[in-house]
Amino acid sequence: MKILVTGGAGFIGSHTVVELQNAGYDVVVVDNLCNSSEKSLERVAAITGKRVPFYKADILDRDAMNKIFDKEAVDAVIHFAGLKAVGESTQKPWEYYENNVAGTLTLVDVMRKHGVKNIIFSSSSTVYGDPQTIPITEDCPKGVCTNPYGWTKSMLEQILMDIQKADNEWNVILLRYFNPIGAHPSGTIGENPNGIPNNLMPYITQVAVGKLKELGVFGDDYDTPDGTGVRDYIHVVDLAIGHVKALQKIEEKAGLKIYNLGTGVGYSVLDIVKNFEEATGVKIPYVIKPRRAGDIAMNYSDATKAKEELGWVAQYGIKEMCADSWRWQKNNPNGYEE
Ligand code: NAD
Ligand code: UFG
Repeated sequence: MKILVTGGAGFIGSHTVVELQNAGYDVVVVDNLCNSSEKSLERVAAITGKRVPFYKADILDRDAMNKIFDKEAVDAVIHFAGLKAVGESTQKPWEYYENNVAGTLTLVDVMRKHGVKNIIFSSSSTVYGDPQTIPITEDCPKGVCTNPYGWTKSMLEQILMDIQKADNEWNVILLRYFNPIGAHPSGTIGENPNGIPNNLMPYITQVAVGKLKELGVFGDDYDTPDGTGVRDYIHVVDLAIGHVKALQKIEEKAGLKIYNLGTGVGYSVLDIVKNFEEATGVKIPYVIKPRRAGDIAMNYSDATKAKEELGWVAQYGIKEMCADSWRWQKNNPNGYEE
């Protein structure tokens, strides 16, 4: 099978290309490199020993996408391409809706005109809003998102569900990721945020490498065991393997399916600091700061459905997630820049 991976040069995309190639799939990547570097794909090729055919193109560019689909006999699309910075999305909502929603509509239209009706979509646990029940099962009702980024995911889920409902030749798998961290154990590919990181693990690794002074812990008065926010962190390699399993589901002509991809275990901010220090031997100084707007106290998955229906269970524990995040950062203090 030939798989077109949009956003394949990015953090989760590059790790997924590795696992797809390892599993024997033919892979083609489309990325406009707005938040990534082509070097990630050179590193992927070094890991797998296989070339990664790459098209630098924007999914909003219908002509470019038509040419790619004319040329490549694509069987299924794994769709990562999108803007993902929560804070930025509140400043630039139009840009987020345009890129993520209009981009996906264009992609899906080009796909159907080429008879390609299999898609795996990167959704997020953010669609649950402040969840009504924890651990969160896929049946938990979707909630109110606190930012335009989250709404793009929630809206795109609805759009893809409606398209599948109207035409059951479509196979649509919505994967709701919890908090991806870690990096490939080789330490050669990883997360490469622009500027000061917004997310916890890249912030911690930049403190560890000496680029930032100390971690700010956003709130210690939540209703959680130690007062700091609890999340379900998942190793990016496990997440990548989840996509390979989802492709096997697509091959069974699954129709519409929705899966959480998480470990089912919640860790607080202070748990992460402690585990990082134990896994790496590097001390992380921190200060308690006020809560960050839009954050919820607790969010972790019930991962049973993916286990039962995809045969997928996360293999990596929190220590490996910390050690692998650190190896990537230490070996590449400036990410993919020399
Ligand atoms: P990333 O920014 O590293 O990867 C996204 C890639 O898409 C980048 O390489 C970027 O250049 C590309 N891209 C963006 N807009 C594009 C466009 N219009 N045309 C072509 N390429 C475009 O982010 P990531 O962390 O790898 O996330 C991948 C997907 O998973 C995104 O859709 C994201 O919203 C979703 N997701 C991420 C997280 C997370 O915490 N990292 C959590 C839940 C969901
Ligand atoms: N945190 C800090 N200090 C920081 C950064 C984060 O204390 O400098 C805390 C947050 O308050 C939260 C936890 O660490 O309690 C995790 O925060 P992240 O920013 O790493 O992750 P979020 O859970 O806020 O959101 C992330 C992505 C979203 C995605 C969601 C679920 O940013 O896009 O995971 O997948 F939707």
